[in-house]
Amino acid sequence: MDDLVTIFVTDLNGDRHEILAPTDMGLNLMEAMKANEMPVKATCGGMAMCATCNVIIKSDHELPEMGESEEEMLDEAFVLDVEGSRLSCQIPVTQEIDGLEVQLGSLTDPEE
Ligand code: FES
Repeated sequence: MDDLVTIFVTDLNGDRHEILAPTDMGLNLMEAMKANEMPVKATCGGMAMCATCNVIIKSDHELPEMGESEEEMLDEAFVLDVEGSRLSCQIPVTQEIDGLEVQLGSLTDPEE
């Protein structure tokens, strides 16, 4: 279907999940992962203020550039130097991310 994209998410146990997300609902990647029951803490609810939605991008998709608050937050959380680190709440679900491959960052763990 045109308005669904597939995203591959590897969780903290190393299990890879295939999730589907609609592109016509204004969702971001964090919301799409949560809607698919991926264990993502996302304490601030998508405000780029907590870094507990951190993912590491494993595929070579073109993603929107980081905003200032995203960059600051990743820096503060000491994950900016992990290559491909992004806040999933700052990545809109669009056709461009179809087939995206991400790994959950350690800060996302809801058990922590
Ligand atoms: S949910 Fe808090 S920074 Fe993304």
